[in-house]
Amino acid sequence: KSIKVFAPATVANVVCGFDILGFAVNEPGDELEMEMIDTPGVNIISIEGDEGKLPLDPSKNTVSASIISLLKKLGREDVGFNLKLKKKMPMGSGLGSSSASAVAGLFAANELLGKPLSRLELLPFAMEGEALACGHGHADNVAPALFGGFTLIKSYDPLEVIQLPVPKLFCALLYPHVDVPTRDARQIIRSKVLLKDAVTQWGNIAGLVSSLYTHDYDLLGRCMKDVIIEPIRSILIPEFDNMKELAMGNGALGFGISGSGPTVFSLFKSKENARKSLEEMQAMLNKLGIDSNIYLSEI
Ligand code: HSE
Repeated sequence: KSIKVFAPATVANVVCGFDILGFAVNEPGDELEMEMIDTPGVNIISIEGDEGKLPLDPSKNTVSASIISLLKKLGREDVGFNLKLKKKMPMGSGLGSSSASAVAGLFAANELLGKPLSRLELLPFAMEGEALACGHGHADNVAPALFGGFTLIKSYDPLEVIQLPVPKLFCALLYPHVDVPTRDARQIIRSKVLLKDAVTQWGNIAGLVSSLYTHDYDLLGRCMKDVIIEPIRSILIPEFDNMKELAMGNGALGFGISGSGPTVFSLFKSKENARKSLEEMQAMLNKLGIDSNIYLSEI
C-alpha cells in the first residue's frame, strides 16, 4: 500500500498571536511518497530539495521521528514504511518547514494504517517533531498544516485547538536569504511582559479572531500589530521597516514576521496588489545584494 501527500507551509503567530495563531497557505510545501511494508522500521529512501542538509537518520528527521513515536504508541511496530520526501519549500525560513515534514509523515502513516487516529490525536506527535527540530514543541505551525485554514491553540495543557473561519485573503510571502534559526529567535525574546503591553496584545488577538468571523477586513488590519515580539525579532530581518512600508503602501491589510522569521508575510484583499508589493520588496532587497524567494497564495 502506498500514498502521496502534500503538507503546506504555514504562517505562525500571525503578528499578535505568538505561539497560538497560525494559518496554512496553498504553496509552498512538502510532498511525500510513502509505502507501507511488512518489515519493521521507518526508512528514508530519498530526500530532494534540501541541499543535503536534512538528517537521513530516521530518529533525527522530523518526517520519520514522529512516525516512529506514532507506531510505538499504537503498538504497531510490526510494520514499517519507506518514504521519499520532496522539500518544495525553504528550510529554516519561518515557514514551518519542519512542521510540514512532520505532518506529511504522520498524516500519510495514519492513512496507510487505516486512520486509527483523528487529526487532533495526531497533533501531539507532530509537536514532538517540532521539538526535535527547534527545541520547543509549539503547535502554531503543525496545527494549521494538519487542519488547513486558520487555527487557534486555545491552550497547550490540555491541548485544545479551534479551527477559525477563513475570509478570502491573499498572502504574500517573501523569504530573504539570511539565517535566523528558530532556536535563536526564541532565545532573544524577553520572558517578562509589561501589563500595558499585554492588554494591547490580547485586545489585538481578540479583535483579529473576531474579524475572521465577521469578515471585517479593516478590523483585521487594525489588529495585525505586535508590541511584544516583533520589536525585538524584526532587528534580525534586513529592511523590515522598509518592506513593511512598501507592503502597506500597496494596500496590505497588515504585515509581519512569519513564525520566527526571516520570512515576512502580508495579507491582501487584491491578488494584483499582493504581487506588486512582492515584486517591489524583492527589487529593493536585490539592490542591497540580498536574494529572496517570493510566494503568493490564497489562504
Ligand atoms: N511560534 C513560534 C515562534 C513559531 O514564533 O517561535 C516558529 O515558527
